[in-house]
Amino acid sequence: MQAVILVGGQGTRLRPLTLTVPKPMLPLMDRPFLVFQIELCKRHGIRDIILSTAYLPEVFEEYFGDGSRLGVRLTYVTEDEPLDTCGAVKNVERYLEGTFLVFNGDVLTDLDLTALVAYHRQKGSKVTISLTRVEDPTAYGLVPLDRQGRIREFVEKPSWDRVVTDLINAGTYVLEPEILQEVPEGEPYSFERQLFPQLLKSGVPMYGFPSDAYWLDIGTPGKYLQAHYDILARKVPYEFQGEEIKPSVWVGEETEISPEATIFGPTVIGRGCRIGAHTRISGNCVIGPRCHIGEGVHIEGSVVHANCRIGDESQVLGSILARGVEVGRRVHISDGAVVGSGSRIGDDNELRKGIRVWPETDLAPSTLRF
Ligand code: GDD
Ligand code: MG
Repeated sequence: MQAVILVGGQGTRLRPLTLTVPKPMLPLMDRPFLVFQIELCKRHGIRDIILSTAYLPEVFEEYFGDGSRLGVRLTYVTEDEPLDTCGAVKNVERYLEGTFLVFNGDVLTDLDLTALVAYHRQKGSKVTISLTRVEDPTAYGLVPLDRQGRIREFVEKPSWDRVVTDLINAGTYVLEPEILQEVPEGEPYSFERQLFPQLLKSGVPMYGFPSDAYWLDIGTPGKYLQAHYDILARKVPYEFQGEEIKPSVWVGEETEISPEATIFGPTVIGRGCRIGAHTRISGNCVIGPRCHIGEGVHIEGSVVHANCRIGDESQVLGSILARGVEVGRRVHISDGAVVGSGSRIGDDNELRKGIRVWPETDLAPSTLRF
């Protein structure tokens, strides 16, 4: 069976990280997020994958090539103008050979694809949508079902007074190619707001497949951090790399940690890093390769991408530093701050409360007390 992965969105809610890297290519642990979805496909015997790209398409091809390194066959189809979710699939129709899967490219999940496809066939369904339960459904598409599991309605991103169920569209579909017949070619078209509600009106059999499998849309900085915490807590299949120097602390090759530093798990530190004396890394941290961390630094619940430098006595708490960020001394970065790639944060700054620093910003010493 083939899978189409939608990876063309701009990932605006994850800016500044997505200004330079498309959301599905952001590092999750030590690899692009998309590798997790490709590995999920492989676990269920799906090796023929079509990537529907629009935003920064070259980043995908440069990394994955034809997919053979990962043991899959990748086909790239790029839109000149973004065609929205359904338009993007219409755009790859010529490659489809029968029943196929569609994935939103920003969902971390361990969904049982084999069971999903079996359910689709057993029901004689034309559209089967995987569903999950979330606490706040208002950021998603609601999909209420009848007793037989047939879809009754689509309510996309409702206000609280229109919340009719806690079952939401989990962003994985099994589809029959014939449902694309009426979709206009080459113009933006949405599954959630257009095609699905229309098919429902015409009486096409459409089913929901509720699942308790791990599920997370990584589309905001908070969710992106959460994805790391969940992998560190082993809620998602992942093979930890490096040496486990003490329980749940993994360290890559050629990394030098001062004997006077303290590292608590779960934490992963990439290869070629240096960690200075009296520095404390107190759990839920993922530090990328070649990072230099000074003395007396405190890092907790944070994700630090490759090639960052953090000066003495600085703190990074519950925050994200993109690739190549340089942090001076006595800088406090906390509460969901996101610093874009290549930025330099001078000494004695304070970055808090979800502040977002654009890539390549030069922040003079003692400018921000946010
Ligand atoms: N090729 C292409 N072209 N891909 C696109 C385009 C486009 O024009 N627009 C969006 N995508 C891709 C994004 O890259 C992403 O992987 C996926 O389609 C979904 O887009 P999001 O922007 O992340 O949508 P959402 O999270 O707000 O809502 C969707 O996902 C929810 C589950 O996470 C909807 O499907 C909701 O109904 C659903 O609950
Ligand atoms: Mg999303």
